[in-house]
Amino acid sequence: MNQPELQSGSWPGLNGWRAKGLDEGRSWGARGPESQASEHLVSEPNILSQAPESLAEAAEQVLRTADPELKAQHTHHAWQQHMQKRLKTGSASPPDSPARPSLPQLVPVKSMPTPKQSPLPLNVFMMHNLAHVELNAIDLAWDTVARFSALGLDEAFYEDFAHVADDESRHLRWCLQRLRELGYDYGCMPAHNMLWEGAEKSSDSVSGRLAVVPMSQEARGLDAGPRLVDRLIGWGDQRSAAIVARIGQEEKAHVAVGVHWFRLICAAEGADMGETFKALLHNLAGGLAKGPFNHEARAEVGLKQAWYDSSQWQCDPVLPEQWSRNAQSASLQPAEMELLKQRLTALLDVELSNAEDARPQPAQPNPVACQLVAS
Ligand SMILES: [Fe+2]
Ligand SMILES: [Fe+2]
Repeated sequence: MNQPELQSGSWPGLNGWRAKGLDEGRSWGARGPESQASEHLVSEPNILSQAPESLAEAAEQVLRTADPELKAQHTHHAWQQHMQKRLKTGSASPPDSPARPSLPQLVPVKSMPTPKQSPLPLNVFMMHNLAHVELNAIDLAWDTVARFSALGLDEAFYEDFAHVADDESRHLRWCLQRLRELGYDYGCMPAHNMLWEGAEKSSDSVSGRLAVVPMSQEARGLDAGPRLVDRLIGWGDQRSAAIVARIGQEEKAHVAVGVHWFRLICAAEGADMGETFKALLHNLAGGLAKGPFNHEARAEVGLKQAWYDSSQWQCDPVLPEQWSRNAQSASLQPAEMELLKQRLTALLDVELSNAEDARPQPAQPNPVACQLVAS
């Protein structure tokens, strides 16, 4: 087999993020994240008696859980289980749409109240919107685990997205806590379903999912985060600003995960990464190719302006015929899928060996790297 070429490097912080231990900073203290003995428990069955046996099973459990606090608890419990027992990927039958609480009312984007129309204080309005984004982000990450578990990709792929889900569950908890501190609950104003619509459009294509969700929807957080922090400071809400700033920092890893796996899949398919990304974005979520963008933050995690900024495109991007077929990985023929997996494994081996060569001296084993060797 010809060795497919890697087309660009990964975000330098990715291995550090993967090697992080369990993050118990799920409460927002006086100086930032801190652990808390008990989460804001809801009257649901004891989750410890429902330990998931695989990441896909955990994903389905979370997707079928409506209560936001319980969704966050299930997510963290699953990640704890994985850190302790190295859960296998497994398989699942995820719902078409995630379970959601009765409030907030979901309305079309055009029907969403503007900050001026809303009776809520501006900082509450913004923190509620962010809580809704984080709730969606948990479901989006788990749906990527469950939806594409049948593809049998490297276990590191599913582990990365379960890790993203755990990060999002902390983000959601900080937002819910801050809303309560301000005297409000999640659900006190309408919300939209636009983020989940991106998941639906990319439910049959792992490359489309990566292009739309982590590489575009999550990149929006890099664009908007600094502006939101400035506004919250301007409104005198330093505590909310600190939460948003921390979330923005942590979102970099999530975009970088998308870039990393998209790069590997393109290399395995022998496809041009930029042209493929442009075409998928144009076909699945063209609205995300319009600014304003934070070019500096996007470049840091491996996104190039020529890919995501439609004002830079010479013409409407078109997927090569071969890619249009292969990119729909959920419908690949078994032989094609096996070839893609073989190429991905070869690329991961090359990455691992490059990473080993780059090390100045023996270091602590990276659990993800070890897993790649074993796979
Ligand atoms: Fe987040
Ligand atoms: Fe995220």
